[in-house]
Amino acid sequence: MDGTKEVGLRNVSSTCSISEMDDFDLSRLLDKPRLNIERQRSFDERSLSELSIGLTRGGLDYCEITYSPGGRSGLDTPVSSARNSFEPHPMVADAWEALRRSIVYFRGQPVGTIAAIDHASEEVLNYDQVFVRDFVPSALAFLMNGEPEIVKNFLLKTLHLQGWEKRIDRFKLGEGVMPASFKVLHDPVRKTDTLMADFGESAIGRVAPVDSGFWWIILLRAYTKSTGDLSLAETPECQKGMRLILTLCLSEGFDTFPTLLCADGCSMIDRRMGIYGYPIEIQALFFMALRCALSMLKHDTEGKECIERIAKRLHALSYHIRSYFWLDFQQLNDIYRYKTEEYSHTAVNKFNVIPDSIPDWVFDFMPTRGGYFIGNISPARMDFRWFALGNCVAILSSLATPEQSMAIMDLIESRWEELVGEMPLKIAYPAIESHDWRIVTGCDPKNTRWSYHNGGSWPVLLWLLTAACIKTGRPQIARRAIDLAETRLLKDSWPEYYDGKLGKFIGKQARKYQTWSIAGYLVAKMMLEDPSHLGMISLEEDKQMKPVIKRSSSWTC
Ligand code: GLC
Repeated sequence: MDGTKEVGLRNVSSTCSISEMDDFDLSRLLDKPRLNIERQRSFDERSLSELSIGLTRGGLDYCEITYSPGGRSGLDTPVSSARNSFEPHPMVADAWEALRRSIVYFRGQPVGTIAAIDHASEEVLNYDQVFVRDFVPSALAFLMNGEPEIVKNFLLKTLHLQGWEKRIDRFKLGEGVMPASFKVLHDPVRKTDTLMADFGESAIGRVAPVDSGFWWIILLRAYTKSTGDLSLAETPECQKGMRLILTLCLSEGFDTFPTLLCADGCSMIDRRMGIYGYPIEIQALFFMALRCALSMLKHDTEGKECIERIAKRLHALSYHIRSYFWLDFQQLNDIYRYKTEEYSHTAVNKFNVIPDSIPDWVFDFMPTRGGYFIGNISPARMDFRWFALGNCVAILSSLATPEQSMAIMDLIESRWEELVGEMPLKIAYPAIESHDWRIVTGCDPKNTRWSYHNGGSWPVLLWLLTAACIKTGRPQIARRAIDLAETRLLKDSWPEYYDGKLGKFIGKQARKYQTWSIAGYLVAKMMLEDPSHLGMISLEEDKQMKPVIKRSSSWTC
């Protein structure tokens, strides 16, 4: 990890030498008319090596795909489509309008976007709040459009909220916990604005959001990378905020694994879905946040100590996840033949997984070419379900090796009907039904099979899929998914999620005008249009963390 430490954010520069990039023609990758590509902002001479894994210069994370935003756009005019040499899809303008309508102001300053503006919905619940995770695609859209101010305000406001004392009943939460969401209360009489935050003490199920702090760090890097403004990340407040978040995760205890032990419902899937333990979504975000923090923490006394702990953890974490969470045909076959009750360090079946616990569907689902990180692993328990967010973030953070990233994309292609269907992208596959559903979800009527978190299809995931596609050099997969979304999203008023095996139906309890469905679409469009945006949300492979296993047939063919 030492190499990475040297390459701090100080090296962020829009002068990153174009000559470092090889001569692969991007227009082939994008399969668009060359003329259009050449008009795009300084990207014409950039190469595939900047975008796709496996062809990169090791460790030079901070030199790839930086750019200076083209300045603020005219009111309501997305820079991206104004700059665009080909006709933007009519949905784009609508999406921008809807996104701007969702902006929340605190004392006159934009500080975030509301989760949903669905006037038709009877119960508001907490959809009138600014969720940290929901704001990420909004933030990326604004950054890509050269409007960093709202992102900076959001980062500072949530940092301020982190400083609040957090209690649930008589129990105090860790100092570093970031809110799941916050709300601005306007008092029209006194003409004052006040903030109200939820750290889990009001949330359905009373779970603290483990993902919020990770998204906050990831967003701080995206802001820094996109604007070239190092001053925000370097403030003592941001440095402390990062250290506090990570202190929550890096403490030593009874853990025998480097992964992070979590309660059910502590992330995007924010209610009981059997993802307690070591869910891939959190592990991938944890890994990415550690890498982002490593690039932004100062090497002062407090920072140094944190940096050392991060480096050690990253090393162990990548080994653990790449080895034990990975599943492909070969690995499945190995588990199928596992012996059990092995004792001592020579054990092959380290977690004592009983082959009989492998669900039938996996054997049909697993293609001969392709693979993915499974949902969870702990003693005698492997959750074989596919989770889209964790796998996409694993690609973006380079937690997945180049071979694993390719295999994940292969899987998406070969299991298109199951994972994408008619609306991208299934949050988890397959759904849990009948008796399992009763036991695992606690009879949750919102999470019935193929609905909501239980195998529902979430348009917001489109931006993550698109980013992963660009990174692996397979933008045609993203284009196919975006085409699908464009047939429905606007017409259906930007639903939160779709239901059904193929994602054909607007979700039973889905909100309309769900902001992250809108922003996710815009981010996907802008990234495809200008793949240099990928740099703010992607990290190149760190050659110090070499893959340790090579067991997949899909890695070699
Ligand atoms: C739902 C989702 C959660 C999201 C929130 C606001 O609770 O499960 O992931 O953050 O709505 O949109």
